[in-house]
Amino acid sequence: MTHVENPADPVWDAIYGISRFAALATMAELGFADQLRDGPLSADQLAQRCGAHPLSVRRVLRELASMGFVRSVPEGYAVTESGLTLADDSPGSVRSAIRLVREEAYWYGMGTLPETVRTGRSSFTERYGPVYRYLADRPDTAALFDDYMAVRAVPFADGLAAGYDFTGVRKVVDVGGGRGQILGALLNAYPEMTGVLFDLDRVIPSGRAAMTAAGLAGRCEFVVGDFFAGLPAGADVYVLANVIHNWNDDDSVRILRNVRTAMTADGRVLILEIVLSDDDSPHLGKDGDMRMLALTGEGMERTRAEYQTLLEKSGLTTARIVELPGWASVIEAVPI
Ligand SMILES: C[S@@+](CC[C@H](N)C(=O)[O-])C[C@H]1O[C@@H](n2cnc3c(N)ncnc32)[C@H](O)[C@@H]1O
Repeated sequence: MTHVENPADPVWDAIYGISRFAALATMAELGFADQLRDGPLSADQLAQRCGAHPLSVRRVLRELASMGFVRSVPEGYAVTESGLTLADDSPGSVRSAIRLVREEAYWYGMGTLPETVRTGRSSFTERYGPVYRYLADRPDTAALFDDYMAVRAVPFADGLAAGYDFTGVRKVVDVGGGRGQILGALLNAYPEMTGVLFDLDRVIPSGRAAMTAAGLAGRCEFVVGDFFAGLPAGADVYVLANVIHNWNDDDSVRILRNVRTAMTADGRVLILEIVLSDDDSPHLGKDGDMRMLALTGEGMERTRAEYQTLLEKSGLTTARIVELPGWASVIEAVPI
């Protein structure tokens, strides 16, 4: 058991976490990491380059140094390895994720969780509409969201390509595949495989650009569509990565039934999600579930048993569950 000095310490830690997030958001928004990547700068020099207020920058740098994102050096401040993950062009940059989370609507959604829980209706959705419609109307926020998803997908993509055997699979449809991070990892690992990237019209152009840059576009079809309306037919494997957790049970069953209709008789569905543990242990999925509740109202993280219930209602059943390194699991499902 963790030794806690004061029973209120975890509460204070959560309360003060907001200060640490705000400092990090300032670093991301003002682009400190990009300015510091070529060498240390004094607080005043950094403020000048970022067009910011020098004393305020100095105070934020002190907080960021205490968190390990920059460190004091004789010239001023240098960016650390963790801090560099906020630079725009560093591989796997998390800058977009922080910039998205600091947006007013996101804070509104998280801050109104108590009302959402009281009423059972997402305050975010009531004010801004369903998340994907909200994104469709705001290209800048949508670009941050798609970047965030692509970076978040890296461990899922690597884990799936390394931890699940796709030998013999000819064609994979990545349903709601975003920019194709996961499909790209599979096509790289299996040179004989072809893929279909399926997503909304807003997303497919950047998915095509990402797959072209990765040299994989020749083995990939790009299909714009709505998974509530139907899916490309006849593939051996349909991957739904971080898709089902956005939807309530009825909508999830509608999506899965469409997959069931599109797949071949000997096809497989792979649901890639952070499957909730049944115990009280700390779990990334339980944090994610609060975001689903606040921002979608009806989306949710689920346990294995809950996924099995959804699958059964969709004419599918769990064949096996493969736990990948990290938090993600693959629920492999086949027609009943
Ligand atoms: C949470 S993201 C996951 C993206 C990707 N699979 C991953 O793991 O990073 C959900 C994806 O579903 C797509 N999506 C949402 N509604 C959709 C719909 N009705 N039809 C097709 N795709 C949809 C979104 O555009 C988004 O790319």
